[in-house]
Amino acid sequence: MSVRRLAAEQPASFAFTPENEAWADRQIAKYPEGRQASAVIPLLWKAQEQAGGWTPEPAIRAVADKLGMAYIRVLEIATFYTMFNLEPVGRHFVQLCGTTPCALRGADKLKEVCHRKIGPERHVTEDGALSWLEVECLGACANAPMVQVNYDYFEDLTPESLEKLLDDLQAGRPVKTGSQIGRQSSAPESGRASLTDPSLYTRKPADAAPAADAEAPRAGAGDAEA
Ligand code: FES
Repeated sequence: MSVRRLAAEQPASFAFTPENEAWADRQIAKYPEGRQASAVIPLLWKAQEQAGGWTPEPAIRAVADKLGMAYIRVLEIATFYTMFNLEPVGRHFVQLCGTTPCALRGADKLKEVCHRKIGPERHVTEDGALSWLEVECLGACANAPMVQVNYDYFEDLTPESLEKLLDDLQAGRPVKTGSQIGRQSSAPESGRASLTDPSLYTRKPADAAPAADAEAPRAGAGDAEA
């Protein structure tokens, strides 16, 4: 894992909005007395959402104050888990999977697109729209290569489709999530190869069901009488 440091430039302060404060209180209430620190991850996550996709240092202190934890303990957590961005990100934060299945299916070419369209990793475009980071497997290997943008997955990408996706995001145009080649879920590219007979999973008409009071045949019943 690379060294993770707090951003050089930080906001002066952070405070949860009233709505997020109430949400945080509900999370904390889920834990028994004396175990409130267990809510540290969800609170940091909510702070990151509120701050626009990254976790400023004042937010780390605000979470520590809320949970009665030492600042260093919450700092350790925020710097350990890569889900917490320690620097500002673009409005559309692209996480590009570079792990083996995606690499074998062309992730390196997608990285070249990100470099060309956005810049180096962690760089935020002038308009604040885009930034990107290479990450480890995001669990969508069957539809590799793929990226996650904020909370959405974009799969079965090519350099061309990723380039178009970045253009559309930057311009505020609607985008299609999921497979970019129309694949159904994680079925083979050429379509489903199993469970193609609807009778295998379609509910039978009610009159085909055995009567409720009919005695079900028992395995080996005849053997016992022989
Ligand atoms: S290797 Fe890319 S999603 Fe798993």
